[in-house]
Amino acid sequence: MSVISSDAFVFFGATGDLAYKMIFPALQALIGSGGLRMPIIGVARGKMTLDQLRERARGSLREHGGIDAVAFDRLAAQMQYIDGDYNDADTYARLKQALGKANHPLHYLAIPPDMFGIVVEGLARSGCATGARIVVEKPFGRDLASAKRLNRILHDVFPESSIFRIDHYLGKEAVENLLYFRFANTFIEPVWSRTHIDNVQITMAENFGIQGRGSFYDDVGALRDVVQNHLLQVTALLAMEAPLGYEPEAMRAEKLRLFQAMRPLKPSQLVRGQFRGYRGERGVAADSSVETFAALRLHIDTWRWAGVPFFIRTGKCLPLTACEVMVSLKEPPLAVFDAASTARTNYFRFRLGPEVTLAVGARVKRAGERMRGESVELLARHRSVGEELPYQRLIGEAIRGDPSRFTSDACVEAAWAVLDPVWDNAGPVHEYAPGSWGPEAADAIASRHGGWHDPKKEKARPC
Ligand code: BG6
Repeated sequence: MSVISSDAFVFFGATGDLAYKMIFPALQALIGSGGLRMPIIGVARGKMTLDQLRERARGSLREHGGIDAVAFDRLAAQMQYIDGDYNDADTYARLKQALGKANHPLHYLAIPPDMFGIVVEGLARSGCATGARIVVEKPFGRDLASAKRLNRILHDVFPESSIFRIDHYLGKEAVENLLYFRFANTFIEPVWSRTHIDNVQITMAENFGIQGRGSFYDDVGALRDVVQNHLLQVTALLAMEAPLGYEPEAMRAEKLRLFQAMRPLKPSQLVRGQFRGYRGERGVAADSSVETFAALRLHIDTWRWAGVPFFIRTGKCLPLTACEVMVSLKEPPLAVFDAASTARTNYFRFRLGPEVTLAVGARVKRAGERMRGESVELLARHRSVGEELPYQRLIGEAIRGDPSRFTSDACVEAAWAVLDPVWDNAGPVHEYAPGSWGPEAADAIASRHGGWHDPKKEKARPC
């Protein structure tokens, strides 16, 4: 692992949506914690001035997490801005000048993937890529072929060890805890396989729509926006074998094996939906067939998981915002006391956000003469005190050159390979009512395993 820290932070797409929602808050937090004493250079085609960019940063922080006066002043003072066309050599010449004495800049590409090639070439020609690292955002390509193309473009200029493919789910404590919990507790391993687990469900529900991101979203859809990356990563952490040590290479190797064991998705294992009203959103085609909802069934062909379906469901405009994993255990072999239950009674439930909860579902005897029971949850709630924002954490690690929480070229390609069979044959997109759990057609995906588990609103309970 490289020990050289980056000495300048450059972000392309400085006037864009991602910078506004995620990067400015992360930068302010990094400055606040002392982790970013270097030039911060925004680059964009925004037709803005530096002062206007500072105002935009202020607006971003007001909306996303609040202004820390001291850190913000430092951020504003450290900030520089280059307004220019990504196709124009002059943009990179000005960047080179702005970098001054910095020899190891970190370039963050918060721009659409079709611009990556142009910017990478511009960086290389101008000498700005020398000694540099690069951070690229998801979705990393549109399919396996384009992801391979992008990897080639990056590898022409940067060694793999200098490329950081960011997926903010990997910066979340609750997501990381999936792996920790599995391998730090002896009671998990004996049940964590096809012998005791009936099925695994991951639901990422959002009760809002596309929030003005029409032109981005209509080019991408739910599968590319969150399934290929966030939700397959969560699946990998739930299903992979223990890494041989905590070195980044060991983690990547096990993850890769897991992605490679995922059976390529068949169109019959996928149902797509689109919320009513989506086609009227700004930036969305009037006849768009892009999905805002996807439900799918995955199979992992390993000794541990053969025959255990992994269900993934995600959508915009669903009844609530929650990301939850439900690992359902098989029922006991005999119903000795009560009649056999139709409800899920034995399970592990991981609420990954917005609240963080870990619950184990169990049956216990209800007080009284008869041997009757009820379902209860043993619950642990996590309170995030001093937890870093995912982007803060990941940008900080990229600056320090730590690749542990970033995705390798091989893993990204293997994850695309799982979804590749459906791009040309994804089936119809079913309309669903905003506020519902998606189209009815999605029920069939999980029907043989007790149907979908709908995350509930978490009750406010003391920790
Ligand atoms: C982003 C997607 O990557 O993740 C968004 O582009 C989605 O569409 C978001 O809303 C969800 O992230 P989180 O951290 O709020 O679950």
